[in-house]
Amino acid sequence: MDAGHWYRSGPNIPSRTVTTPECPDRPSGGQLSAIKSSSLRIPTYTVELPGSSSEYGVDPLILGTLLDDRYRVLRKIGQGGEGDVYIARDEQLGCDVAIKAQFPRSFESSQTYFSAASAIEGELERLTFMSHLPGIPRVLGDGRYGLNKGRYIVMELIDGVTVESWIAEHHPVSAVAALSVVAQLCNILDGVHSEKYVHRDVCPRNAMLRTDGRACLLDVGISGKVHEVNPDYRGTPYYAPPEQYNRESRLSPQVDVFSLGVMLFAMVGTDVPYGDLEGPPDDATPPFPKGLSSEMPEGILTLALSMVSFEPRGRPDGVAEVLRILGRMLPKLGEDRPPKATQPDSTMPFRLGLPLL
Ligand SMILES: Nc1ncnc2c1ncn2[C@@H]1O[C@H](COP(=O)(O)OP(=O)(O)OP(=O)(O)O)[C@@H](O)[C@H]1O
Ligand SMILES: [Mg+2]
Repeated sequence: MDAGHWYRSGPNIPSRTVTTPECPDRPSGGQLSAIKSSSLRIPTYTVELPGSSSEYGVDPLILGTLLDDRYRVLRKIGQGGEGDVYIARDEQLGCDVAIKAQFPRSFESSQTYFSAASAIEGELERLTFMSHLPGIPRVLGDGRYGLNKGRYIVMELIDGVTVESWIAEHHPVSAVAALSVVAQLCNILDGVHSEKYVHRDVCPRNAMLRTDGRACLLDVGISGKVHEVNPDYRGTPYYAPPEQYNRESRLSPQVDVFSLGVMLFAMVGTDVPYGDLEGPPDDATPPFPKGLSSEMPEGILTLALSMVSFEPRGRPDGVAEVLRILGRMLPKLGEDRPPKATQPDSTMPFRLGLPLL
């Protein structure tokens, strides 16, 4: 496995009309804390991103520029398969936003360039459709930039950290903090699944914690419709379930349940299921053939193991079922801050009764 994603443009998604919202009323700045080294044993893989490296001189094409006479691109905050993510200043509304922009044109063929544009457009359609759901960033606009009319999406800037950097900072995460993240993601996914979508890319890099501990799920770019045939070979290695490697399988919410289970192992333990395999998981190999090299509290281990069952039908029957099982292990309303609270504190929304945003 040599890359974080496999590519293909997405299916047609019915669009939902959204009105351009007011400037989101959230504090700006304080993005993405530095990633500390972690003892987590997730095998590493290299993602080569054509056109994303500043050694090609492509970043300056967009940094500092004013897109569509409105968005001043300030700083790069993330990098993905199809484009980079920036903080930009919306000079019309006077607030900061996040912009996901297609990589600037480099040496690629027109076909490759236009298929990247259509991938961003597919993501825009899905995000627009799901933008009303709590915990999904709101779409604020979209546009084209530069001579080659690269596509970009303007969205709500989530002020917080990725769950990836949060894990690196606090690993191993306490059971209650980890369950608080998974429970919030279950609530977000409940909305996604009720819209008949499967996210297909739930992983620590695609989830964020706002500064008050509320979770947010990013990157609906490869989501697909429930019951449809698995549309392509895309996903994040180790977080994608076995059936995501199979073009004949049908999409079910259990895809996302598997990924959440892997997140539990990544947060609390030191191994990820099927982590020693070089290729896709197979039903002959158990998730941890050599056993677990770190201890996990029993209640969590039983739940997490069931979530990463090879067969979808061996997993809890959807995120509501996961929530039912872990509900009793969550912090109670009014409870004190845990002794070793993380920053952001994922237990805070439960202790203070904060709804998802
Ligand atoms: N709305 C947002 N607010 C704040 N940060 C964001 C936002 N959207 C994305 N990011 C940052 O940019 C990174 C990449 O974003 P995203 O996952 O949407 O892109 P991607 O191209 O799909 O990346 P990948 O291929 O790695 O999944 C995220 O991990 C996060 O750090
Ligand atoms: Mg992503």
